[in-house]
Amino acid sequence: MLSGIQPTSDSFHLGNYLGAVRNWVLMQQTHDCYYCVVDLHAITAGHDPETLRRRTRVSAAQLLAVGIDPEASTLFVQSHVPEHAQLAWVFSCITGFGEASRMTQFKDKSAKGGVDRSSVGLFTYPILQAADILLYQADAVPVGEDQRQHVELSRDLAQRFNSTFGQVFTVPKPYIVRESAKIYDLQNPTAKMSKSASSPNGVIDLLDEPNRSAKKIRSAVTDTGREVVFDQENKPGVSNLLTIYSALTGRTIDELTTAYEGKGYGDLKKDLGAVVADFVAPIQKATQGYLDDPAELDRVLAIGAAKARSVASATLAAAYDRIGF
Ligand code: ADP
Ligand code: NA
Repeated sequence: MLSGIQPTSDSFHLGNYLGAVRNWVLMQQTHDCYYCVVDLHAITAGHDPETLRRRTRVSAAQLLAVGIDPEASTLFVQSHVPEHAQLAWVFSCITGFGEASRMTQFKDKSAKGGVDRSSVGLFTYPILQAADILLYQADAVPVGEDQRQHVELSRDLAQRFNSTFGQVFTVPKPYIVRESAKIYDLQNPTAKMSKSASSPNGVIDLLDEPNRSAKKIRSAVTDTGREVVFDQENKPGVSNLLTIYSALTGRTIDELTTAYEGKGYGDLKKDLGAVVADFVAPIQKATQGYLDDPAELDRVLAIGAAKARSVASATLAAAYDRIGF
C-alpha cells in the first residue's frame, strides 16, 4: 500500500487527518505500508526553498506524532529516493501527449494562471505519481474520488510497460476508503476544508493553539435554528460540527444529538472546542518533540529512505533491464 502527502502547508488540517492520515495509521496493522512526503510534487507550481524544507520536516514529524510507526511502515521523503524521478522519465516516454492532456486535475489547477504559464511538471505530475506507486509494487492505493483518474493512469502504464517490455509492475487498484469522513470548511460548510480555503478561520490545523481552534469553532457558520440535528442538506454547518465531534470521540451522531437535545449550538461549539483541544494536545507535543530533535528526525527519515530504496532500486533495475539500459 502506498500513499503520499504534499508538504505544502505548515500543518495538516482536520480534513487531512480525519479523511486520510487517520486511516493510514489503521492500515499499518493490515498492510505493508509506504508513506511518502512527496516533496517532488510540491515544486510544480513555484515554491520557496526554506519553506519547503520546513514543511517537509513538519509533515514527517506530524505523521510520526499521529501514530505512523517507522518500524511497522516505511516512512520517507520522496526526494531522498532518486528512483522516483528516474522511473517517472521512463513512464513519460510511454505516456501519450493526448492521454496526459486528459487529466482533469491539470485542467483544474492550470485554469487559474492559464496553461501557458503552468509548468511542464504540473502537467506530468500524474506520471510521477505513477512512478511513486509502481516502484513499490503497490496493489492498493487509498485515494479520494479526485485522485481516481491518476490511479487509472498508473494501471494503464503498468499494463503498457508489462506488455511492451515484459512483466515488471504490479497493477494497482484504487482503494476508496469507505469509512473516512469528509470534513467541510467551518465558514463555508458546503465546501471541503482545504488549505487553499479563502478564509483561514474555516480550517482547523492540527497545530493550531487550542484557543485559536476553539475560537474558529465558536464562529463556525451555522443556520438560524437552534436544534442540534444532523441534516447535511439543510444544516450543513451543524452537521459538519457533529461529524468532527463524532470522529474525534467515537461517539455516534445519534448519541450526540440525543445528548444535545434541549441544548443549543453554543453548547455544542463550546464542548467541541474542548474535544479538539484535548485531541490535538498530545499530537502537538509529539510533533514538537521531533522538531526539537532534528538529529532523531533525520535518523528516522534516513532509515525510511534506505528501506524504500531497497525496494525501489530493485524495481527500477528490472525496468531498466527490460528497456535495454
Ligand atoms: P487540501 O485540499 O487541503 O489541499 P490535499 O489535497 O493535500 O488537501 O489532501 C491530502 C489528503 O487529505 C487527501 O487524501 C485528501 O483526500 C484528504 N483531505 C483533504 N481535505 C479533506 C477534507 N476536507 N475532508 C476529508 N479528507 C480530506
Ligand atoms: Na504494516
